Amino acid sequence: MKNILVIGATSAIAEHCARRWATRGTKLFLVGRNAERLAMIADDLRVRAGSADCIATFVLDANALASHQPMLEAALGFLGQLDGVLIAHGSLPDQQACEASVDMMLAEIANNGVSVIALAARLANVLEAQRSGCLAAIGSVAGDRGRQSNYTYGAAKALVDRFFEGLRNRLAPAGVSVLLIKPGFVDTPMTASFAKGGPLWATPERVAGEIVAAMDSGRQVLYTPWFWRWIMLIIRHIPERIFMRMKL
Ligand SMILES: NC(=O)c1ccc[n+]([C@@H]2O[C@H](COP(=O)([O-])OP(=O)(O)OC[C@H]3O[C@@H](n4cnc5c(N)ncnc54)[C@H](OP(=O)(O)O)[C@@H]3O)[C@@H](O)[C@H]2O)c1
Repeated sequence: MKNILVIGATSAIAEHCARRWATRGTKLFLVGRNAERLAMIADDLRVRAGSADCIATFVLDANALASHQPMLEAALGFLGQLDGVLIAHGSLPDQQACEASVDMMLAEIANNGVSVIALAARLANVLEAQRSGCLAAIGSVAGDRGRQSNYTYGAAKALVDRFFEGLRNRLAPAGVSVLLIKPGFVDTPMTASFAKGGPLWATPERVAGEIVAAMDSGRQVLYTPWFWRWIMLIIRHIPERIFMRMKL
């Protein structure tokens, strides 16, 4: 892929994807809401790429829906065409705080769900007209089944999952691939407050390597690391009566 748009480019997982792309000469348009951190990442990638011209940045809070179109026009102006898009931004809410505040719950659904599908809807039209490219977003295994400990986040990720299924159907005849990435536990700033370690935890480097390969190969759904496909298959098949008692 020669030209890639990364939204939520300050995410640890996205940054590791961008490092891989930069070292193979890909032109990158990086979008994030933290201008300072975005500039630092862009400078680092320019050094890795050995070129200053192949990276551009755009400051955007993904919840500013009216700014999506100007961002997209700037990305197309820089990249020419979109070979790949990675939508990576997200936030992990405190489920109990969301239960106490409907406003907070809706804000988290907006950030993790609505802003992602709003971006994907615009991008789908561009890719469909182009008749090529890969549209990818980072969902989560949490979107596979509602659990009492994180159903706000899970519901937002499930929204993205269903939306991407429909887009995949729609865009297949145009030769556009649509990938939903479902990581399990990844050691990034998002999970800073978690006790880490053990076989279920993955590094952002590993997950990024799998994302880049999945986008290259036109894959549709990526559980990363691979064993989450089987863990979630079991979790999805636990009968609701038993699941309710498990307090997951
Ligand atoms: N880490 C995990 O265990 C895990 C598991 C499953 C799925 N995921 C998903 O993986 C993706 C990447 O997360 P990560 O693990 O790499 O965590 P991370 O390093 O904390 O990255 C999350 C990024 O999203 C950005 N962001 C949040 N809301 C935004 C908005 N409205 N506009 C623009 N940027 C926004 C944050 O920017 P600021 O720095 O400005 O806040 C941050 O850079 C997320 O979609 C997350 O839900 C992560």
